[in-house]
Amino acid sequence: MDFESANCKHRVSECTDIEQLSVERPLKIGREIDGLENLVSELHRVFSQDHVNIQEVQNMMSGYKSNPKHWRKYAKFDRFRYTRNLVDAGNGAFNIMILCWGPGHASAIHDHADSHCFMKLLSGNLDEVRYDWPKNIEPEVIKRIKKRQSRRCCSESNDINENLAQLNINCDETCPNYRQNNCQENENGDSENGEYDTNSMVEIGRTRLEVDDVCYINDALGLHRMENPSHVDGAVSLHLYCPPFDSCRVFDSRTGKATNVNVTFWSMYGKKIRRVIEANPADSQE
Ligand code: SIN
Repeated sequence: MDFESANCKHRVSECTDIEQLSVERPLKIGREIDGLENLVSELHRVFSQDHVNIQEVQNMMSGYKSNPKHWRKYAKFDRFRYTRNLVDAGNGAFNIMILCWGPGHASAIHDHADSHCFMKLLSGNLDEVRYDWPKNIEPEVIKRIKKRQSRRCCSESNDINENLAQLNINCDETCPNYRQNNCQENENGDSENGEYDTNSMVEIGRTRLEVDDVCYINDALGLHRMENPSHVDGAVSLHLYCPPFDSCRVFDSRTGKATNVNVTFWSMYGKKIRRVIEANPADSQE
């Protein structure tokens, strides 16, 4: 299997072809899809099949051209933080939501709970910042990819080694190219070139998204956070997760420490959710 046939009905760690996935540039192509409702119906059609092609989903999201008339009813902002507004629960196979970002709002560095994440910008600008996994908790799927890549790099040319370096994948000590690839470890087990400091997060890419850009990420491609770079304007984005998840891990940017958090919705199907603030029994005084 190659990237073209990667199936986003599978969790990322179940994809046997995941090493073929590369860091994606935003897409600007696709058959035109008229309106958000039509996009959602097309997604239902595609996700009712056994096999869902990642590239096809990206093309469909790219084929819908943003128009505030289509999505305004879901776009609910909060003064203090970005909001998540459910548009459709995708029959349990995926969920699609609109995120509203006030000026300067940002998400924390997070993983994608073994799911596939597609994102399209509907309004304003967003910066997507990608990070490598802290070395001590990188998932099995990344270890598998690195192992395969380092085996390949032993038998292939220096061009490949340059490509691996760009992807932040280094040879391991079993590889004859190990020394020339500058990834020797010092006595403490840290990388001498400082690329892999287990105590901090390493930025591996930054992309400014513009209206109608679509991009894709999963845990095998790394971690990310989104940020509205404007101090004045809001931004709105459309996110599709497959399979849906209700918790993920966020990472401290200085230490790499991971914390599990629940993800919730600010509104569902255009209606704001009433939040019940429960009294903390520890606060009650007899
Ligand atoms: C993001 O990709 O930064 C948004 C995360 C979310 O779904 O809350």
